[in-house]
Amino acid sequence: MNPLNHVAIIMDGNGRWGLKHKKSRNAGHKAGLNSVEKIIRASIKNNIKYLTLFAFSTENWKRPKKEINYLFNLLEIFLKNKINDLHKKNIKLKIIGIKNFSSKLNKLLIFSENKTKTNKKLQINLALNYGSKSELMNAFKQLQKTKKNLNEKNFIKYLQTRNIPDPDILIRTGNTHRLSNFLLWQIAYAEIFFVKKLWPDFNEKDYNKIIKKFKSIKRNFGNV
Ligand code: FPP
Repeated sequence: MNPLNHVAIIMDGNGRWGLKHKKSRNAGHKAGLNSVEKIIRASIKNNIKYLTLFAFSTENWKRPKKEINYLFNLLEIFLKNKINDLHKKNIKLKIIGIKNFSSKLNKLLIFSENKTKTNKKLQINLALNYGSKSELMNAFKQLQKTKKNLNEKNFIKYLQTRNIPDPDILIRTGNTHRLSNFLLWQIAYAEIFFVKKLWPDFNEKDYNKIIKKFKSIKRNFGNV
């Protein structure tokens, strides 16, 4: 059976869910947050050590300002209400992406990371203002400056996911089959699961089904 350490998720379909339920796109984001909480709990139950969630991409700035503000407000409320609880559950929060938000949100993100930095049960990597191509370019530039050899071992030290094992599973909900500039280097050998359901409808049962399937797959890593 395959060991499972790291699950990465593209939580797609919030906007469509909101509209489908005759509400707003933002109502879909709010419902999506409930799925986030469910999947955190289910990850702990499954003894998963790293959960990486794509919450906001570098391309998402193109969305209407009202939606962007709503999302960051939701994140702020979530962290203010839940960071103690996450800490008690021994969960570590790490932000991957560029923290160039309002100074209030930046401070809250840094506070949340610092508070939980020694926790061991589960590490949640929240991808915020994250884009894989810019992460890779930045890593190349930094490595070049050091004049060290350009090899994989040196290169991965400059990724934002340094010290984090690569994802074993990548899930994308929302019935869309693309990677949207997410962890392009790190998912080289991930098992990819595209799910028809919209993110707010994705539940523990769906997650466990994927985990069960993953465990039964023969992973070759290029071997036979
Ligand atoms: C993609 O759905 C989802 C996002 C861009 C935001 C993800 C946010 C959440 C799951 C809730 C908030 C989470 C935190 C941690 C605060 P979409 O809007 O692109 O859906 P669509 O494809 O139907 O338009």
